[in-house]
Parts: sequence; C-alpha cells; structure tokens
Amino acid sequence: MAKLKVALIGAGLQGENHIKALREEERAEVVGIADKILPKAERLAAQVGARPYHDAAEMLKREEVDVAIIATPDPLHKEPFLVCAEAGVRAIVCEKPLATSLGDAEEMMEAAEKRGIMVFTHFENRFAKADMATKLIIREGLIGEPVYAEMALDDNISVPTMLWGERSREWASRSSPAYFLMSHTIDLVRWYFEPAEVKEVFAVKNESILGYAVDLYDALLIMSSGAKVRLKSEWVRQMDDLVEFRIYICGSEGGVFYNKRGGYKTSPGWKANLSPSIDFDRVRSVQRRLGEHGVKVSASISPNWSRMGEGWRASLEIG
Ligand SMILES: NC(=O)c1ccc[n+]([C@@H]2O[C@H](COP(=O)([O-])OP(=O)(O)OC[C@H]3O[C@@H](n4cnc5c(N)ncnc54)[C@H](O)[C@@H]3O)[C@@H](O)[C@H]2O)c1
Repeated sequence: MAKLKVALIGAGLQGENHIKALREEERAEVVGIADKILPKAERLAAQVGARPYHDAAEMLKREEVDVAIIATPDPLHKEPFLVCAEAGVRAIVCEKPLATSLGDAEEMMEAAEKRGIMVFTHFENRFAKADMATKLIIREGLIGEPVYAEMALDDNISVPTMLWGERSREWASRSSPAYFLMSHTIDLVRWYFEPAEVKEVFAVKNESILGYAVDLYDALLIMSSGAKVRLKSEWVRQMDDLVEFRIYICGSEGGVFYNKRGGYKTSPGWKANLSPSIDFDRVRSVQRRLGEHGVKVSASISPNWSRMGEGWRASLEIG
C-alpha cells in the first residue's frame, strides 16, 4: 500500500508532537515541513528525512502532498489553510481551534468544500480511552438522561507567561483560555451529548491578572436537550502541575466521575455509576464492546448508596 504523503506547517511545540506521532505511523511518510523560522523546520525535518521550507506555498508547489497538518498559532491557521486548499491537498488536519473568528472559519470551510477537501480539527480527547467510555455510557443511556455536566480544564500561569519563551505574551494576547483550552471541552460536550446542540451561552471572564490576555472564562451552556453544562477554563493557576482537567456528568439515574489529570492530592481516574435498572448482562456486553476498542474497564456491583444501601448498582472503572 502506498504511504500517505504528509506535510507539516508550523514546526513549534505541537508540530513536534505531530512529528513524534508520525514517526510511529507506518502508513505515512513526512515529505515536507514548513516554518516561517527556517531553522525550526530544518531541525524537525532532519528527524524524519523530510525537506524543510520557510514558506508553505513553496513547499506545496514542490511536494506532492496528501495530508497537510497545520500547527501554527491559534489566530494564524487561516493563511496556511487557504494555501493548502488552493494546492488541492486531499485532507487538512488543522489544530484546534479551527479559527479565532467565525468569519475566518466560514472562509476556510467554504474553500475546502469547494474543492472537496476533507477537514479534521485536531481534538485528540475523542481518542482517549476514558472519553470513549464516557461517550458510550451516555449514548447507551446507562446513566439515564444526562442533565448536568461540569468540566474544568485549566493551565498553569506559566503557559501564557513562559511557554513560548519571549513570544509568550504576544502569543497569549492573540488567543485566550476560550480558544486555547475551552475549545477542547466544548468539543467534548458536543460529542458526548450529540444530537443535542448548544442553544444558549452565558459567560463571564476575568481580566485583572495578566493584563494582556483574558485570565479565565466561566460559562454556562444550555443544551437543546435541556441539559445544563458548566465549563471553566483559566490559564492563571498558581499550581504545581502544568494542566488540571476534571469532568463530572450527572445523569438522571447515575453519573460519570472523571479526573483526566492529577492535581493536588488527586490522581487520574474514571468511574461510572450506572443506572440501578441496568442488569449485569448488559454491563458485561458494554464492558466487552469497550474492550474491542482497547478500553479495559473493570465492572463491580455494590449496595446502592444513593438509596442508603438499599438495592444494588453496577459501576465501571478504569485504572
Ligand atoms: N491538540 C492539542 O492538545 C494542542 C496542544 C498544544 C497546542 N495546540 C495547538 O497547536 C497550535 C500550535 O501551537 P504551538 O504551541 O505549537 O505554537 P508554537 O508557537 O510553538 O508553534 C507555531 C509555529 O508556527 C510557525 N508559523 C507561524 N505562522 C506560520 C506560517 N504562516 N507558515 C509556517 N509556519 C508558521 C511559528 O514560527 C512557530 O514555529 C495552536 O493552534 C495550539 O492551540 C494543540
């Protein structure tokens, strides 16, 4: 089978992660890497035997490319995206957020649709084992109707102040915790709860700490199903870890408790308390299906403490 020819635009922190992943992928070969700062493209290209470029348009003129990956900073996805669309690549994998304005997003999608180009925004949480388990549990009605969810995805203050070296202040000022962090949780909400869509949004922000960028957003989303979702993202945390990520989903008959990253005196973990009306055969069948997707969950049964120990309830747990 012919290998997919891949080109990367943006050889920064996340570009490097893409190259790390592609080195393990036998079905793909990286043919070109472009970065406005040529030595960055050269350094990464040397790792995979690709050709370095300082200009994406030039790269796409010279290389035959099936898939282009765009990993430029948040507000700078549009220009390379349009260059890729113009060059007629078969697929574009664009880092999140797709764009930082609705106008840019519409222009990009129009250009891709006109040429029949497949577009993927890189939301890798959808491929995380515990997220796949959460999605299946909700879709199969194993916690009843989802009525409320809470997601907090936060970064250490070192991210907007130091992560990109001397460019950090400028980088952060052109993005925000909504684009950089909350795009992940919004995507998870829409994926977990589909076909429900976000109907209304109420949000507040704080801007008193950094001065050059928004410190945090706290948002309440009302879904078309009636479910309420609270999302909070800050990048001003004075904490020991780089990232903290917590999710809780309240169903009418059960719940999902999910600590995606550790934090002060907490460790990662995922547990779903299933509806007491789910019989054990069904639990085993869900366990088997998750296993087929590489998600190993243990099942247990215990007194139903939500009814003060009256009756039984099954739970699933990862890790
Ligand atoms: N999916 C995730 O979990 C995840 C994690 C981290 C970052 N990201 C996203 O990845 C993107 C890149 O972030 P980063 O931290 O790697 O940024 P970065 O600043 O480290 O890297 C961006 C690179 O793009 C280059 N660049 C800018 N404009 C260019 C252009 N027109 N053509 C070619 N190169 C250009 C810059 O010189 C820089 O080297 C952002 O959108 C960010 O939100 C996603």
